[in-house]
Amino acid sequence: MMEKQWYKIAAAKAELFKPGEEKTEVNIEGKSVCVVLIKDALYACAARCPHAGGRLVLGKTDLSANIVCPVHHYRFSLKSGYNTSGEGYHLSTWPVKENEEGIYILL
Ligand code: FES
Repeated sequence: MMEKQWYKIAAAKAELFKPGEEKTEVNIEGKSVCVVLIKDALYACAARCPHAGGRLVLGKTDLSANIVCPVHHYRFSLKSGYNTSGEGYHLSTWPVKENEEGIYILL
């Protein structure tokens, strides 16, 4: 298995998100990652729902850092990947950090 490393995805939030948007998809080494902004905090998860592949970038988020899949409305914690609506799936999530040089995801 390859060692984890921080991948720079943008120089700043303004480069990552279109005005008024809070979710986007980025591609890191062939992996599709959904990046979410909630109240100034950044989260990264798999772009596709672990249930049946719904695009989470089209889902809704809440202030407790959950994301709801737009297809069958299963809900996942963006902090842990835990399926908080109870269907027993797990969403991959990855740490995000932001500093003066940019925004990075540990993958
Ligand atoms: S595809 Fe996401 S809940 Fe079914």
